[in-house]
Amino acid sequence: MRRRDFLALSAGLLAARSARAAQAHIEVFADEPIGTISPDLHGHFTEHIGGVVYDGIWVGENSKIPNMGGIRSSLVEALRALKPPVVRWPGGCFADSYNWRDGVGPRGQRPRRANFWINDPFMVKAPDGPQKYEPNWFGTSEFVRFCRLVGAQPYLAANLRSLPPKDFYEWIDYCNSPAGLTSLADLRASQGDKDPFGVRFWGVGNESWGCGGDFAPDEYAVEFRRYTAWLPQFGVDPALIASGPNGGDIDWTRRFLDKLTEKGKHMLRKVYGLALHYYCGTSGKGQAVDFTVDDWYSLLAKATRMEPLITEHWAAMGEIDAQHRVKLVVDEWGAWHNPGTEVHPAYLFGQMPTMRDALISALTLDTFHRHADKVAMGNVAQLINNLHCLFLAREDQFVATPNYHVFRMYAEHRGSQAVRAQFAAPAHPARDDGRNWSVTGLAGSASIQGKTLVLTAVNTDASRPLDTEIVLRGATAKSGKLSVLAHPDIHAHNTFSDPGVVQAREEIIEARGSAFTHRFPPASVNKLVLELGS
Ligand code: AHR
Repeated sequence: MRRRDFLALSAGLLAARSARAAQAHIEVFADEPIGTISPDLHGHFTEHIGGVVYDGIWVGENSKIPNMGGIRSSLVEALRALKPPVVRWPGGCFADSYNWRDGVGPRGQRPRRANFWINDPFMVKAPDGPQKYEPNWFGTSEFVRFCRLVGAQPYLAANLRSLPPKDFYEWIDYCNSPAGLTSLADLRASQGDKDPFGVRFWGVGNESWGCGGDFAPDEYAVEFRRYTAWLPQFGVDPALIASGPNGGDIDWTRRFLDKLTEKGKHMLRKVYGLALHYYCGTSGKGQAVDFTVDDWYSLLAKATRMEPLITEHWAAMGEIDAQHRVKLVVDEWGAWHNPGTEVHPAYLFGQMPTMRDALISALTLDTFHRHADKVAMGNVAQLINNLHCLFLAREDQFVATPNYHVFRMYAEHRGSQAVRAQFAAPAHPARDDGRNWSVTGLAGSASIQGKTLVLTAVNTDASRPLDTEIVLRGATAKSGKLSVLAHPDIHAHNTFSDPGVVQAREEIIEARGSAFTHRFPPASVNKLVLELGS
């Protein structure tokens, strides 16, 4: 027997032996690429809602809270470490009631308007303030400055429900026209922004099936055509994002694309992405930090619905767009819990993320990576003091939530080639909304860049570790490094007074050859960075 064959057989026998001991299996196919993991899959969303903008991002130039031109310094510093690729603004539902002109010019002279969310029963009871009466202190220039401070691309959502198309293209003019050449470029310069912003990503309305106008999909397609029939370019090729389906509404996807292309398939070239929104929500009595083990499994099960949503909408898009010119943009996703954990009575949807949310973040980002060929962008909703947030802030207090730690861990996948990986482990039954669900015991994604393989994996078991056999097909590991986010209490969360309860720890692991085993702790998010041999 040749030495190479002997080694292969030994590895196979060893793998078979450890396979018997293991409860779970991961198989990574290094030679089966899916697509490049766009950094934009790890994008963010900031709406004028509750405490996101006031006081999450904007504290004002004269505030005693440390700030950079009015923007909260602690947030900028934390985001700089994360390198966020893209941030969506100003909504959400707020976008379709927002006039961008209200947010430009001298800050002291800007109008005050009723915020879109003022009628929400939570806001009716909230104290008056900038969360209810929008002072427009944070407008386009301030947002773009925020993006520049943290190194992100701005993604602006245009108002399709309550402003005509002219306002849309004048907003583009204000943002992108060359210095000194249009009156709107002069207006921009008068605020200290002589150079154009170069905004590329533009949403054409938001949730046009609901708060964005209550359109039927074919009606919205006609509006989309009208709003995008002419747009100034100023040297920036706009990436237009159409309002897409609510969760599993395949009818929206089909009828929108059908109507859009009734005058020809060339219309598909206008659309960079179709925006899918999907939130997994707490049902029953619990809220963000108060839930049972059954609630844990049922919410994680709902989070894993992201995968069939992507594949089903993608298949429907392919019926009309056979070459798949249009990609999916999941520009709102996350867990939506019942109220009760807000850090301020005007912070609508200001929920406090726990380990449960961290697992939802990881399961969702892994799903995007596995579908890197279909999803062009993902924007978690929302950045701070809101649904599924990465940060909480109140006055001078600031804390990073478990979600932040997942985004930091997963950043290592960005720009790498996603490769196919299979995850197998016993599933956990889950029951919710009168339905039987099940949540996968182990899920994740894998990517390769040069000689580095990044494997992320989530053990959804609330109380038991998972001994897992990891097999590399077409690759061999030389060494390995582990980052793990885990806590014995599934309710664990970071607070202003105890900010370090949930944080990732790192260690060197024994990972050699093409098969090895690893024990994933209960309720954990894991990242294995493997250096590959030749
Ligand atoms: O993220 C909160 C809201 O959820 C957004 O404004 C809206 O687009 C969605 O329904």
